[in-house]
Amino acid sequence: MLDTLLGENAAAGEIVRPPRLIAAMRHATLGGGKRLRALLVVETAALFGHEAEGALRAAAAIECVHAYSLVHDDLPAMDDDDLRRGRPTVHRAFDEATAILAGDALLTLAFDILADERTDTDAATRIALVSEAARGAGVGGMVGGQMLDLAAEGRFGSSAPDEVGVRLIQRMKTGALIRASVAMGATLGRASAAERAALDIYATGFGAAFQIADDLLDLESTPESIGKATGKDDAKGKATLANRLGIKRAREELERLTDEAVVALSRFGKEADILREAARFAAARNS
Ligand code: IPE
Ligand code: IPE
Ligand code: MG
Ligand code: MG
Ligand code: MG
Repeated sequence: MLDTLLGENAAAGEIVRPPRLIAAMRHATLGGGKRLRALLVVETAALFGHEAEGALRAAAAIECVHAYSLVHDDLPAMDDDDLRRGRPTVHRAFDEATAILAGDALLTLAFDILADERTDTDAATRIALVSEAARGAGVGGMVGGQMLDLAAEGRFGSSAPDEVGVRLIQRMKTGALIRASVAMGATLGRASAAERAALDIYATGFGAAFQIADDLLDLESTPESIGKATGKDDAKGKATLANRLGIKRAREELERLTDEAVVALSRFGKEADILREAARFAAARNS
């Protein structure tokens, strides 16, 4: 689906897709990655028997938002990273200006995909998807979290956050997009309010655990294994739960949050086994 949506030829209503820009967007999106947010959209929708192409389109849209967030996260002005998914980051493979524009275009494309009738024939459902993605991605979600993450380095004269502050940063920069992915699957599946509430507890635990795992991998893994630089968080003065709680307590917290996520799925029975497995994988992953 991503390969199709990121084709070299202009789509209906577009004028031209500049080859360098679409190549950078493809580099960001098609070069590996776990596609976990996409899986959350598809498997949450599948929980309600929704297996239409629309779920794959919504999944592709959220991966575009995620890929854009990584392209910008890696820029010299932000985390300044050269390696992503075992390959040069977009600003390294191309240049900074192209990386900024590729991120911009991926974010915009995501909303184009969601607004298209092929994603869902019901307009109200499409509007709900657009607003879930926007709120997950935007000023009160991922981008807001990225702002707080940079501030926590002390860049703007701000003081280092305590444990509560770190949890808030992580809930926003990483958790918000993961929650949006699950919410979008629930929207496509026409989940009830009670089902949505249970899924939201799952997604919240999943997201918090996911970023703790990311922080632990930065400390304990190797670039060969995770395809990105390690040992950078402390070097940059990043605020993480690992450096607030210590590795041992951070790992316990990771387990606790994963259990919380899995327990929240109890009402769904065996149908939710893939989502349970995804939470376990996110916690135990080594890439
Ligand atoms: C990395 O996300 C950024 C974080 C939010 C921690 P992923 O670990 O999901 O990255 P990919 O898509 O698999 O490369
Ligand atoms: C990234 O957090 C969160 C995003 C919104 C991109 P990190 O900065 O820890 O992610 P990595 O370690 O570079 O993948
Ligand atoms: Mg970052
Ligand atoms: Mg980073
Ligand atoms: Mg990290």
